[in-house]
Amino acid sequence: MKGLIFREFIDMVETQFSAQMVDDIIQASTLESEGAYTTVGTYPHDEMLQLVEQLSIRSEIPIPGLLRHFGRHLFHRFTVIHPEYITSHASAFDLLKVLDDEVHVEVRKLYQDAEVPTFDYQDLSENRMLFIYQSSRPLADCAHGLIEGCVEYFGETMSIERTDLPVDTGAHTHFILHTISDAKS
Ligand code: HEM
Repeated sequence: MKGLIFREFIDMVETQFSAQMVDDIIQASTLESEGAYTTVGTYPHDEMLQLVEQLSIRSEIPIPGLLRHFGRHLFHRFTVIHPEYITSHASAFDLLKVLDDEVHVEVRKLYQDAEVPTFDYQDLSENRMLFIYQSSRPLADCAHGLIEGCVEYFGETMSIERTDLPVDTGAHTHFILHTISDAKS
């Protein structure tokens, strides 16, 4: 996992919890990196899972909620760090439909060794879409939060129905997205 993501996570913990919390969760984890992440570096995703677990223990917020919260935060950060992949789209559906073939393809060119998940979609009707997330990493909660952050960014209201399918490792999740109101209505 890219250092960029770790840096964003640590900045979020520092701002929304405290600098002491950052030190505590790093100390309590077994990290090859020792918690020193550079944006362009690549680190085991297990380090993120350890940091989130330690934050969960200390904050008494369950891990899925923390990952989802981080996903929402991360999307808003992407709008600042990489607006070029976001602002040209008119709606959440527009962006989600090109996530796999455009956005994450560009991300892999930009960040060496980036390991992005696979997203597939099926239009169910004009305002309903099945969005399928598959990854070797168990980050469906983070994906869920990223989708919510995306919906918020475009000023839409959407119901998100989620089904986690059984997998040995990683994740395979179906999201049924139903736009209730968009920015134009
Ligand atoms: C709603 C839109 C998006 C969703 C649902 C999404 C989903 C994800 C997820 C779940 C991951 C974690 C890796 C995994 O699960 O295997 C990821 C990684 C990543 N995504 Fe996206 N993403 C979105 C938009 C973007 C945008 C706009 C950017 C623009 C820069 C971006 C850049 C990245 C980067 C840099 C990584 C890290 C790759 C790595 O650590 O190796 N994503 N994305």
